[in-house]
Amino acid sequence: MCFRCLGFVLLIWFPGAVNAQSETEPCNAPRLDGGFFVPVQVTYSHGTNLTYACDNGRKPTVEGWWATSTCQNGKWSHKPQCIDEKSCLPPSISNAKYTENPNGWYEETEKIRITCDNGYIFTDHDATAECKNGTWTSIPICEKSSYACDEPPKIPHAVITNLEDQEVFAEDSEVSYECEDGYAVEGTADTQTVLYCFAGDWSTGQPCSKCTVR
Ligand SMILES: *[C@@H]1O[C@H](CO)[C@@H](O)[C@H](O)[C@H]1NC(C)=O
Ligand SMILES: *[C@@H]1O[C@H](CO)[C@@H](O)[C@H](O)[C@H]1NC(C)=O
Repeated sequence: MCFRCLGFVLLIWFPGAVNAQSETEPCNAPRLDGGFFVPVQVTYSHGTNLTYACDNGRKPTVEGWWATSTCQNGKWSHKPQCIDEKSCLPPSISNAKYTENPNGWYEETEKIRITCDNGYIFTDHDATAECKNGTWTSIPICEKSSYACDEPPKIPHAVITNLEDQEVFAEDSEVSYECEDGYAVEGTADTQTVLYCFAGDWSTGQPCSKCTVR
């Protein structure tokens, strides 16, 4: 019993101690093949910036010909690396997703498959992009579908209860409204109403009106 208590106490106490310590933990010098960095030190204190550049034919894993990485709690904010300049960095595609490479970059001839976010569609039909000589070919554009809806309408004396932070709602999305306390959906005893997005428009909702008798 006592051991159990002790174990429990240790568990609570230990992560705190580790965190407190690591907040100012230094970083080791990175191993950088095909490039150089400044300043050259054995260790770098927390918050130190290191700047690096790459040899001909290579480039950093972030935009630009030189890059900065910061020591944060014993880790570099991004691992300083010099990759083949024919490799590609992750593309930024608005309103879309694609499978991200765990190492953060893509080799030449690698292809990614892109999917538009809910409520968006491709303006062309090409859903793949290929890394060619350091840039992406045929990056698709995802545009709001004409069947998707904008922000749902305001219903007086009601709030929306199932909303995520989004601007575009795919067709068939539904949002639930709940009437303010003391109000009910007009002509019913219900306090909830649901609107649907259909062909670009929200269905019409009944207003919430004050309950006369309770
Ligand atoms: C490191 O770089 C960041 C962003 O470029 C900057 O805000 C910060 O002040 C720099 N830190 C030091 C210690 O120079
Ligand atoms: C590849 O890109 C580099 C730099 O943008 C350019 O100088 C070179 O001519 C390109 N090579 C081919 C085969 O397109």
